[in-house]
Amino acid sequence: MKVLGIAGSPRRGGNTDRLLAELIRGAASRGAETKTIILNDLNFISCQHCDACLKKGNCKYQDDMQMVYRELEQADRIVLASPIHFMGVTAQMKAMIDRCQALWARKYVLNVPPLGNRRERKGFFISVAGRTVANVFDGALLTIKSLFTVLDVTYAGELLLRNVDEKGAIARHPDALKQAFLAGQKLVAE
Ligand SMILES: Cc1cc2nc3c(=O)[nH]c(=O)nc-3n(C[C@H](O)[C@H](O)[C@H](O)COP(=O)(O)O)c2cc1C
Repeated sequence: MKVLGIAGSPRRGGNTDRLLAELIRGAASRGAETKTIILNDLNFISCQHCDACLKKGNCKYQDDMQMVYRELEQADRIVLASPIHFMGVTAQMKAMIDRCQALWARKYVLNVPPLGNRRERKGFFISVAGRTVANVFDGALLTIKSLFTVLDVTYAGELLLRNVDEKGAIARHPDALKQAFLAGQKLVAE
């Protein structure tokens, strides 16, 4: 069982980073092989809509997204972590998602499995927002669920926390880190 975490925050060691690390620790505690990718450390361009991927289902740009495609293909569980930036996912996360247009092309143009085979994959979303407004996660959820649908990844759950703003605030939440650890254990057990 391979669990891939993808961190979308530019703030290293921030709130979503810490939740993701706990979830990954929970998954590892149940024997999963784990890997975490920090998008902000990678070098890749946003989707240029060149449509080259429509021919073979691969993106022609040979940047760090090529490694991300390989990791997505090998993962059994995919955990995306992004804080809310302007009512949506971060620019880093959105750029990664848009580059998955190549995987969309595999599925909807070339009629092949978007991640190379048909084994069962599950996805999980972690997010935090500084504010408390009711609809603060709506935009991000539409985007994340759309990606998982395109990738044939079953949406297995989410951990969404409002009113978490400054760096480290998540550690003062009564049980968020524990929830993340347990979610990691559950994600590999189901
Ligand atoms: C550019 C930017 C935009 C943000 N937009 C929102 C927003 O629309 N709604 C909100 O509730 N919080 C917003 N925030 C606050 C972050 O979601 C919050 O600080 C969060 O805890 C950051 O998580 P991190 O430590 O994982 O980066 C924004 C922060 C930044 C830097």
